[in-house]
Formats: sequence, structure tokens, C-alpha cells
Amino acid sequence: MDGKSVASKVTEHVSSTVKTLKEKGVEPYLATVLVGNDEASATYVRNKHRACEQVGIGTINHHLPEDYSTNQLIELITILNEDRRVHGILVQLPLPRHINEFLITSMIKPSKDVDCLTPFNIGLLAYDVAKLLPCTPAGIVELMKHYRIDPAGKHVTIVNRSVLVGKPLSTMLLHLDATVTICHSKTANIREMCREADILVTAVGDRSRFVLTADMVKDGAVVIDVGIDRVNGRLVGDADSSVMEKASYMTPVPGGVGPMTVAMLLRNTVIAAALNEGIDVD
Ligand code: GUN
Repeated sequence: MDGKSVASKVTEHVSSTVKTLKEKGVEPYLATVLVGNDEASATYVRNKHRACEQVGIGTINHHLPEDYSTNQLIELITILNEDRRVHGILVQLPLPRHINEFLITSMIKPSKDVDCLTPFNIGLLAYDVAKLLPCTPAGIVELMKHYRIDPAGKHVTIVNRSVLVGKPLSTMLLHLDATVTICHSKTANIREMCREADILVTAVGDRSRFVLTADMVKDGAVVIDVGIDRVNGRLVGDADSSVMEKASYMTPVPGGVGPMTVAMLLRNTVIAAALNEGIDVD
């Protein structure tokens, strides 16, 4: 599955929506917040900014020191919430350990919450009425749609229970009538859970803890690899290359889910711009 090419289709559509918004006097604008010096996070944020520039979305990055406090961050989020020019707010995760991640993400104004991390938007997602969908899960669903993979009636196993991927993805797939199993570090029989999957989504990103091998994959399964790790300087996913022989469809790393996540962020930013400005866009 070619995430890059599907993402560029989404991006083209976003580009034309940006033009429509600009004709109406609205410049979509995304503010990102990056705390500390995690290199991978800095790279992700840079990629997001580059993608925004390419479609004409304005951006600002608030890169803050590692020792920034929860209270200081709350002050910044309050300012961004009130700033009429800012349509989307993205706080890059993970935050340093001393910062209360829940307090910060739940502070974001829901109409600017382009990551779908606020309790309000997660509630809308649970009711299947969310306008701003979580980027990685939405990217996965979009990719499946493009390849005409219908999760209805299928057994989906997700190896991840995070608020960014596993939990919201399970919600979205339930709405599409899949039967969903979530696995995590304490799951006793993870190999069997993986083997039972018609669609297998794995998002661990640490090869020392988890590698998906061919014997864990049902013949003909769809494998969506969200993991990113670096081995000998090379980017790799959770899945061993031997999995390709078993899977009917598989996403590569890089060039699979990653570009889709960024494309969905762009889409959410224009949706948020329209929402905040009271404009209708398709
Ligand atoms: N860290 C890794 N992926 C993401 C993402 O999609 N959004 C945010 N905010 N942080 C992340």
C-alpha cells in the first residue's frame, strides 16, 4: 500500500480547499508546540511544517526548553486558544515526564484540536459525530478505503493501546463494523491474537520489545505497520520483511502510514479553519 501516493491525493484536495478559504479571506493557520530536544519529535514537527507550507497553510512552531513547566504550557495554550489567527493547535507527544499530558491536551479548545486529543472530541468520536478525526487512525481508514479494504465483519487486531493510535482506531473501526481486539505489553497470548487477525495493525516502534514475524500473520491478512524504529541508521517498522510473503496488503516503513498521518493533519487544519470561521467546506 503506497501511503505516499494516497497522501498526495488527499493533499491535492486540501490544497484546493486552502485556495477556496483564502478567496474568502481566511488563511488556515497551524500552531505546533514542541517541548524538549527529542530528535524524532523534532523531525516529525519539521515534516508537518513542510507539508503545511506546500499547501499554503501558515504555521508557527513554539519550541520550548525541556524544563518548561505545566503552568507555563497552560499559559501558552490559553494564548493560542484565544488567538483568532490560529485555527489548529498541535502539541507534539510525548511531553517530558514532569508535564501532565492530560492537563495540557485537555486545555486545547476543541474546535482547534487537530489531533482529537481533548476529552470533548474523544466523546464526539465515541458517538461517531466527530468533525476532527485523530490523524493516524483517520489516515489508516483512508488508506484502507483507497484500496477497497472493508473492515466490516473482519477481525482486526491492534497492537497498541495509546490515545493517539490504538484507542481511537478501535473506535473508528467499530463504527465500520469490525470486530476489534487490542493488544498491549501485558497481553498474554499476543502471537495468537495476531494470527487471528484479518487486518493487523501494529504500532509499537521498538524492535527490542516487539517484532512482527511471518509466523504471527494469517495467510492473506492485511498488515498495517505504524511502528517506526531505527536499526543501524535505517528506518524500520514493527514488521519483519518476511511478513510480506504472508500478507495480501502491507504498508511500508517509511512511505506507508507516516505520510497519511501528515495528510490528515493538513485536512484537519482546513476543517478547523472552516469551523472556527463559520464557513462550509466539503
Ligand atoms: N507523536 C507521535 N505522533 C503524534 C501525532 O500524530 N500527534 C502528536 N501530537 N504527537 C505525536
